[in-house]
Amino acid sequence: MASPRSLSLVSWTADDLQQRMDELLDVYASAMGYHRTIMEWRRGFIASHTQRVGFRAVATLSNNRLVGFSYGYLGRPGQWWHDQVRAALSVAAYAQWLSDCFEIVELHVHPEVQGAGVGQRQLAAILRGVQAHTVVLSTPEQPAAAPLSPAWRLYRRCGFVDVIRRLRFPGDERPFAVLGRTLPPT
Ligand SMILES: CC(C)(COP(=O)(O)OP(=O)(O)OC[C@H]1O[C@@H](n2cnc3c(N)ncnc32)[C@H](O)[C@@H]1OP(=O)(O)O)[C@@H](O)C(=O)NCCC(=O)NCCS
Repeated sequence: MASPRSLSLVSWTADDLQQRMDELLDVYASAMGYHRTIMEWRRGFIASHTQRVGFRAVATLSNNRLVGFSYGYLGRPGQWWHDQVRAALSVAAYAQWLSDCFEIVELHVHPEVQGAGVGQRQLAAILRGVQAHTVVLSTPEQPAAAPLSPAWRLYRRCGFVDVIRRLRFPGDERPFAVLGRTLPPT
């Protein structure tokens, strides 16, 4: 395991992310326990996300090896995730949570360096200076009887509250929670 002292957190441009897409997919697959080959179809989606308004990304490097990353952008009508969540919200809840939001699309840390605060540092860094009223994200539902997963512990510790629970996205069997938080004024 990398020593926390050898880790550096950096901001990425869209080009930085695209140049390190292979490594990003490796970390993503390792963090989520997905088979690496099924990650390939996400390559095009992720590349297109880098062109969205308000795109931001951060990465954690260990001696220049990628061990974590996060990216997001400003949520807008017409984006698939935004429209799915909007359809499940009342008009008032949409105005509160999604009308001026930054969406965290991905946040992953390689298993070798999980549990040392890397995810929390990435989350804090990607949100620093974001010009939006709220931050929102979706995460697989937490089984009621199980201890909170690392992702849920992180989001709760960082002040995220429930926006929607047990939401089903087309094409995914799993229920998801949409969580959100108000951002400080910039
Ligand atoms: C969810 C995930 C990103 C969290 O990242 P992480 O680096 O493992 O976790 P955190 O940043 O929350 O830190 C983990 C622990 O380190 C502790 N910590 C915080 N700062 C620290 C520091 N400077 N030094 C040591 N430990 C520290 C935290 O208190 C936390 O402990 P706790 O949760 O028991 O209270 C990561 O576990 C992951 O990639 N999981 C798989 C993929 C996933 O679920 N992604 C999210 C999908 S929506």
